[in-house]
Amino acid sequence: MKLKVLGSSAGGGFPQWNCNCRNCDGVRRGTVHATRRTQSSIVVSANGVDWLLVNASPDLLAQIAAHPELQPARHTRDSGIAAVVTMDAQIDHVTGLLMLRENNGPLPLYLTDSVMHDLSTGFPVLSLLEHYCGVERHRIPLDGSSFGIPALPGIRIEALPLSSKAPPYSPHREAPQRGDNIGLTFIDEAAGKSAFYAPGLGALEPHVLEAMRAADVLLVDGTFWTPNEMIELGLSKKTSTDMGHLAQSGVGGMIEVLDSIERAGVRKVLIHINNTNPILVEDSPERRVLAKHGIEVAFDGMAFEL
Ligand code: MLT
Ligand code: MN
Ligand code: ZN
Repeated sequence: MKLKVLGSSAGGGFPQWNCNCRNCDGVRRGTVHATRRTQSSIVVSANGVDWLLVNASPDLLAQIAAHPELQPARHTRDSGIAAVVTMDAQIDHVTGLLMLRENNGPLPLYLTDSVMHDLSTGFPVLSLLEHYCGVERHRIPLDGSSFGIPALPGIRIEALPLSSKAPPYSPHREAPQRGDNIGLTFIDEAAGKSAFYAPGLGALEPHVLEAMRAADVLLVDGTFWTPNEMIELGLSKKTSTDMGHLAQSGVGGMIEVLDSIERAGVRKVLIHINNTNPILVEDSPERRVLAKHGIEVAFDGMAFEL
């Protein structure tokens, strides 16, 4: 199984278009030791030709251009993206669906019922796409059973519901539903290896920890270093918890959670990093703390072979 990070940043990207925080301003001027990042997305493949796009970010076209392996060029109109899965209905994970409207035939899309509802009501992108390529809808099971995707033979996928919130535009924003937000485990059956992906992970419930302990690669919520990061910078009134993200530092934070996972050879990687997070600066004290705990920071183009 091949897994590639197309975008390692949280919503807004790094730098964010209108942000002049220390990180965004610094990376723009070249005064901090940091690399630009596009918005949250990965691709997974069994054969390196047919890929499952996991989340369709607003930066999708630039991401495709940056990854020639996504364009096998077998026909005049062709793409290596064989299917798409969306893990929630957030703007940074679904806007790229509009960029796939020229697809040859209905776009195979895997999603939960509640995400399907949001994408048919608050942000009716599925209805819009009916006027272009159309969408072949596949319901993601949340009963613990795994599912497969024809273009990825030998790879099983398990979805687990995460406690989080639907996007601000959702008609059920204040009434969370099972399936608003999921984590995914990709299992290569022949290799006996798996990767767990959860860019938004607000709370570490027992079933989530169990999935994390079983994986060989962990790609987990790296949004914020502290719960009050956005508030302290005067950029928001919301804590990380309000936004459905678990901060890295402090008691009960992601570093502590990852420390409790002792599987031999496991890769611990933070992804979906907000542009305010000091871990983006490669020579920062926070980055040294991560290194001490054996935790990596995802970057666009980071690749895994399992
Ligand atoms: C989030 O995960 O909280 C998002 O990045 C927010 C957004 O896309 O605006
Ligand atoms: Mn996000
Ligand atoms: Zn910023």
